[in-house]
Amino acid sequence: MKDDLKYLTGFDCEFSSEDERCPGALPVGQNSPQNCPYGLYAEQLSGTAFTAPRSQNKRSWLYRIRPSVVHKSFVPVVDAASRLIYEWDQTTPNQLRWKPFDVPSRQAAEVDFVDGLHTICGAGDCRTRQGIAIHTYLCNASMRDKAFYNADGDFLVVPQLGPLMITTEFGKIRCEPNEICVVQQGMRFNVTVFGPSRGYILEVFDDHFRLPDLGPIGANGLANPRDFQTPVAHYEDRDTDYKIVCKYHGKLFVAEQDHNPFDVVAWHGNYVPYKYDLARFMTINSVSFDHCDPSIFTVLTCPSRKPGTAAADFVIFPPRWSVQEHTFRPPYYHRNCMSEFMGLIKGRYEAKEESFHPGGASLHSIMTPHGPDARCFEAASNSELKPERVADGTQAFMFETSYSMAVTEWAMKLSNKLDNDYNKCWEGLKKHFNPNAKPETSLI
Ligand SMILES: [Fe+2]
Repeated sequence: MKDDLKYLTGFDCEFSSEDERCPGALPVGQNSPQNCPYGLYAEQLSGTAFTAPRSQNKRSWLYRIRPSVVHKSFVPVVDAASRLIYEWDQTTPNQLRWKPFDVPSRQAAEVDFVDGLHTICGAGDCRTRQGIAIHTYLCNASMRDKAFYNADGDFLVVPQLGPLMITTEFGKIRCEPNEICVVQQGMRFNVTVFGPSRGYILEVFDDHFRLPDLGPIGANGLANPRDFQTPVAHYEDRDTDYKIVCKYHGKLFVAEQDHNPFDVVAWHGNYVPYKYDLARFMTINSVSFDHCDPSIFTVLTCPSRKPGTAAADFVIFPPRWSVQEHTFRPPYYHRNCMSEFMGLIKGRYEAKEESFHPGGASLHSIMTPHGPDARCFEAASNSELKPERVADGTQAFMFETSYSMAVTEWAMKLSNKLDNDYNKCWEGLKKHFNPNAKPETSLI
């Protein structure tokens, strides 16, 4: 697919952009003049309270052919094809793993991005703006004369199968597997697909995603701000029947209008959608012994109301060198006060090489123990510790949340993808304890 799109680069920047067909469309020196250039309407999209601290304040000004209020009334979507719900009531502390979720056959039915949304798990309440939801999208058709916006929170989209062309009010974003895209609360978008398409979505209610602080790492490293890409303005002036689908309180509503909503000719602001190529992540890790905690792999974080604690982190396990000496190199066994949802974009995850597949998922809930399977433990305990590459051709990721999630009926039953034998992967872990084996002198 030809990529002739243009992007602005940076994170948390005050951007400005105007469609090249209308130079001078951005008002100079003010946001809302009595008459905007080219006969456009001015409209503000607020991403934070008007009074939020300046360092966190997010808003953008859109200059468009018609204001977004020009639509008929919203009505509930009846018999929605999607399984997008907020009734995550299947509670279990068990380790859960899913085989890859099926993408529907186009011969059976055309399913677009919105119709293909399925909620897997979540916690909290979008009405009080605290919590998260995790979804998968499983689709085979493009959204035709249909736009979607989420009034409840932000979407972090992780394509796993097939590229997406996401048309937003701010411009077009092409997002391929191994890239991510963030479309924030309220932004209208349309998704074009090019075949069977599958991916994961992390939805956050509390706040917006931001880059993690780097502390002693210094000014550079992990995801660098300059590698985030925001689309340039691109308008369509097309009078046609169009549907606007809205997710509000977790339910879908639809309104009709007589024109294409992607009619923004120019915009400026710091509340913008963006994409990021995960291959650009600069990985930090131990070069002596033992493990750093996986927080070193955080790409983006959404803070909760508890200082230093994320509502949700987006974490990746990218290709890298493993060089630690006298160390059990795979992830250690652990129990966590956070919930860990994992997915696999491509390749083979090092701690579960045989049975965790791209397009599948796992959930290790709060205080649920987990770690390498028996085969991985035996191999890593006896291997020669040379510097070696790990995760080449692989991209596993984690949505980690401080909330305690429950699962949906679709994920537990209707999807038919739950692996009921998952915990058997630890059954083969042997007892190695020998009270007569004298420890070696200090390794360090
Ligand atoms: Fe874990």
